[in-house]
Amino acid sequence: MTKLNAAITGVAGYVPEYILDNHELSTMVDTSDEWIMTRIGIKERRILKGEMMGTSDMGFKAVNQLLKKTGTSPDEVDLLICTTVTPDMQFPATANIISDKAGIKNAFSFDLNAGCSGFLFGMSTAEKFIKSGQYKKVVLVGADKMSSIVDYSDRATSPIFGDAAGAVLFEPTTEDVGIIDEDLHVDGAGRKHLHQKAGGSVKPASHETIDAKEHFIYQEGQQVFKNAVKGMADISVGMMEKHNLTSEDIAWLVPHQANMRIITATAQRMNLVPEKVMINIEKYGNTTDATLPLLLWEWEDKLKKGDKLIISAFGAGFTWGAIYIKWAYNS
Ligand code: UT7
Repeated sequence: MTKLNAAITGVAGYVPEYILDNHELSTMVDTSDEWIMTRIGIKERRILKGEMMGTSDMGFKAVNQLLKKTGTSPDEVDLLICTTVTPDMQFPATANIISDKAGIKNAFSFDLNAGCSGFLFGMSTAEKFIKSGQYKKVVLVGADKMSSIVDYSDRATSPIFGDAAGAVLFEPTTEDVGIIDEDLHVDGAGRKHLHQKAGGSVKPASHETIDAKEHFIYQEGQQVFKNAVKGMADISVGMMEKHNLTSEDIAWLVPHQANMRIITATAQRMNLVPEKVMINIEKYGNTTDATLPLLLWEWEDKLKKGDKLIISAFGAGFTWGAIYIKWAYNS
C-alpha cells in the first residue's frame, strides 16, 4: 500500500484591528515599554473589540480566507478541529460554531485544549485522520480571545497576551513532504503554575469567584519560564538528533511566541542563526493557540517545497512538544 503523509497545503490568519501598544498599557497598569521589551519582547498586541464577539468570529475569518485561497468549497471539508483555551462558551464546541459560520456542512468538528501547545497537538490529530485514508481535507484552526481572560489590572500577565486566529488545511500526499515526526508531552502536575481557577466544574462561577478575580489567567511566571525554556529547547534538540539534522539542514524554527527570551534560548540550543527563526511576538504577543499558524501565514511566501521546519511549543498543562515537517509547496 502507498504510504500517505499529511501535508499542510494552505495557511490563513486573522488579527483584530485594535492595537493595544505598550504606551496605552502603561496607562492601565504600572509598567513600561522598556520593561516589557526587555523582559518579554512585545511592543503591541491585537484586541478583539465589539459586543458578543468571540473566538469563533476570528476563527471563522481565518477559515473563510483559507477556503477561498486554497479553492476549497466548504462542502469538501471532512473535519474541522479548533484548538483554543478561550472557547465561545463551555459548550457547544467552538469548532461547531466556526463550521456553521463558514458553511461547512459535511464535516464533523471538535475542540482540543492543550494550552499553548494546542496547535501542535491539533497537527498531530489532523495527521492521524488524514493518514487513515478516510479524510481528505482537514481544517485545523487555532484561535484565542485571550483578552477575555486577562486581568488588565495585573501587570504580571496583561502585557503578554493578544487575540488572533490562524488556520491550515491538511491534505494527503504520497510525496516525502508533510509531517515527518512528532514528540509530544504533558505533565499535569505543572497545572498549579498556570491555570484559570474558576468557571469549570470544580469551582463554578459565583459572586465570590468574580470578586476574587478567579476567572482570569493565574500564572507563576518564573516557574513557567524555567520549564518552558527547558521543555522547548530539549524537545527541539532531541528532534534534530533523532533525524540527524544539523542547524544547516533546518530552514526554519517555528517557535511558540510566549517570551523572546524563551525563543532565543531555544534557537541557541539548536545552534540556529537568528535569520532562521520565525518571530512576530513584537507585533502580536502571545496569542496562545494562534501563534504557530500566524507565523506560517506570515512566512508563507518565503517557504519552499522541501524546507525542513521544526515547530515547537510549551504551555499550560504543562504541555510541550516538537513536530518536524517538510514544507509541501511553493507559494
Ligand atoms: O505561553 C504560555 C506559557 N507562558 C510563558 O511561557 C510565560 C513564561 N514566563 C515569562 O515569560 C516571564 O516569567 C514573565 C514575562 C511572566 C515575567 O518576567 P520575569 O522576568 O520572570 O519577571 P518576574 O516575575 O521575576 O518579576 C521581576 C520584577 C518584579 O519586581 P521585583 O519583585 O523584582 O521588585 C515584578 O514585580 O519585575 C516586576 N514586574 C514588572 N515590572 C514592570 C512584573 N511585571 C512587570 C511589568 N512591568 N509588567
